[in-house]
Amino acid sequence: MIKVVFVCLGNICRSPTAEGIFRKLVNDAGLSHVIEVDSSGTSNWHVGGPPDERSTAVAKTRGIDLSSLKSRQAVTDDFHHFDYVIAMDCSNHQKLLSLCPPGREDRLRLCLSFAPSVGLTDVPDPYYGGDQGFENVTQEDTSLPYVRILGQLSAEVNEGDGKYIEGAKPGMIYNNITNEIFDGKKGIKVVVCYYKR
Ligand code: 4NP
Repeated sequence: MIKVVFVCLGNICRSPTAEGIFRKLVNDAGLSHVIEVDSSGTSNWHVGGPPDERSTAVAKTRGIDLSSLKSRQAVTDDFHHFDYVIAMDCSNHQKLLSLCPPGREDRLRLCLSFAPSVGLTDVPDPYYGGDQGFENVTQEDTSLPYVRILGQLSAEVNEGDGKYIEGAKPGMIYNNITNEIFDGKKGIKVVVCYYKR
């Protein structure tokens, strides 16, 4: 099992959305039995609560159900459990570094470092902004970090995992929406996505 957790500040906007988007990609690739997905927040402000209703509403329009998620706070043990601890911005990356046990730093990654072509380091926080910030979570169709992350992980899954796609080989990603096969190297136009200013 490869384990991935997305981490923001409140675990009610960015990281639950990332979890939902990524889980859908994993499910659609037939890899849910080999890739575990979770999210958390570096603060304890919303622990036990549901995602922000604006996030849930926008995700729903893209076929992503966030309704069963509950906020939890990131803990040091996450660096033992998860292979990839993916911070949604630099501030939370810093906070996670302070939770990280020595020798586990390589598990900590910045989400947009998987998609440098986007030209942003932080996934913008929509919490204090208007509805457009939430809308942007799923409406951009630039290349997104989640497909890249899955591309990286799929090189780690075993041959035979995932569903059979004509022409696909282990390590490739199938985008069920565009029917493209993604070799993990070239850019790809994607349908689900992330925040952009
Ligand atoms: P998130 O957004 O980190 O993407 O979940 C926020 C949620 C709540 C707050 C700030 C950011 N807050 O201040 O309560």
